[in-house]
Amino acid sequence: MSAVVVVGAQWGDEGKGKVVDLYAPFAELVVRYAGGANAGHTLVVKGEKLILHLIPSGILHQKTNCVVGQGTVIDPAVFLKEIEALTERGVATEGRLLVSQRAHVVLPHHKLIDGLRETKSNEAIGTTKRGIGPCYEDKVARRGVRMGDLLDAARLRSKLEANLECWRPVAEDLGGTLPSADEVTAQYVDLGKALRSYIGDAAAVVRASIQRDQRVLLEGAQGTMLDIDNGTYPFVTSSNAVAGGACAGAGIGPTHIRLAVGIAKAYTTRVGGGPFPTELEDETGQRLRDAGAEYGSTTGRPRRCGWLDLVALRHAVAVNGLSEIAVTKLDVLTAVDEIKICVAYDLDGERLDYPPYDRLEAVQPIYETLEGWDEDLSDCRSRGDLPAAAQEYLTRIEQEVGCRVGVVSVGPDREDTADLRDPFER
Ligand code: GDP
Ligand code: IMO
Ligand code: MG
Repeated sequence: MSAVVVVGAQWGDEGKGKVVDLYAPFAELVVRYAGGANAGHTLVVKGEKLILHLIPSGILHQKTNCVVGQGTVIDPAVFLKEIEALTERGVATEGRLLVSQRAHVVLPHHKLIDGLRETKSNEAIGTTKRGIGPCYEDKVARRGVRMGDLLDAARLRSKLEANLECWRPVAEDLGGTLPSADEVTAQYVDLGKALRSYIGDAAAVVRASIQRDQRVLLEGAQGTMLDIDNGTYPFVTSSNAVAGGACAGAGIGPTHIRLAVGIAKAYTTRVGGGPFPTELEDETGQRLRDAGAEYGSTTGRPRRCGWLDLVALRHAVAVNGLSEIAVTKLDVLTAVDEIKICVAYDLDGERLDYPPYDRLEAVQPIYETLEGWDEDLSDCRSRGDLPAAAQEYLTRIEQEVGCRVGVVSVGPDREDTADLRDPFER
């Protein structure tokens, strides 16, 4: 039991990147298990910012190896660019970064169709337009191209030809033109050549690591409420973001997972369409957006902001089997006079403790108001250093969702962290 999962407990962008970067020195291996370049995980070290989309957030720690698992979808050009950016910063990736040969490849027409659906159809949900949906559609339809295929030109070409044929009517319907199989083959064979030394049997590496009793950190992308099965369907991403997705996505069994840490902001944000019960479309929402710099790490879109939704968080505790919650961005609530937390929903007069499967847009949040604080939190290194009202805020979260709070993040930098402990020591 040497694996720990870090999972988004809300609608993504909870600060998973920061927490994984903090936990990575305790691990031998960090594994991304789902999603693709729709993710944007931010690391800040001594004021210097790095945004990763595909490469695991443990990469800055030279002694920690990184694996991108079979549950992900890879845009090879983005992956290569990230490797190059890291090399430029003096971070070596060769020999310590591996992407699964089984991971599916995001192709140019996946991005084209994703973009066209968002702009020209009535299927728009506010995706990141990174081709994620169409790529997972191909995977499930059993006609996808996988990373291993990039290393065999003839095989790649024949798969691409069949794949493009399937999408032709869809593209034409949306007024788009597909590239030819020859064009895509040429481009992707080149990408395969550039990435050859990074493609391999990632799941075997993860299992071997576990067998040697090494500590494996499984890095989630997106969040529980964006999960295809547990989220606000159809306003979700196309993969299993939840902790359970880590098993299939990394290629290990559930018996290897020791604990699951859910990352939650001290308030709530969502980017893209879909219901958001505690959303604040007023000055307070704008204040949170400004103080929290709530603009997407991948698309730059302003994030929708609102009060902490403990109904959604309770759901995240349940569906991920969370052992612990890391609360991030507590500093952003400083100087808010009265802070509200949503403890239940009202749906047509009925009180709900968990999100309904449908009609989330029709619920009314039931709020409790808590006292705010004015102190700067950035130097707090343990919960006891926090002002009493901030401590009380964390205690109320624990009481409402039935899960303890561990790490508390009080600023974007690695250093701005309270109660950091080795997650493998519990
Ligand atoms: P992820 O997708 O879950 O990794 O999160 P993102 O990187 O997309 O978004 C989180 C944003 O909040 C990033 O800009 C982080 O640098 C920033 N951040 C993380 N933790 C804190 C914190 O405790 N306080 C503040 N002010 N910013 C934080
Ligand atoms: P990280 O890992 C926040 C959202 C999109 C859209 C929906 C579907 O940084 O937390 P997709 O492109 O996946 O088909 O879009 O999911 N979304 C995210 N929101 N953080 C993310 O990742 C997200 N990845 C996808 O905005 O609403
Ligand atoms: Mg993000």
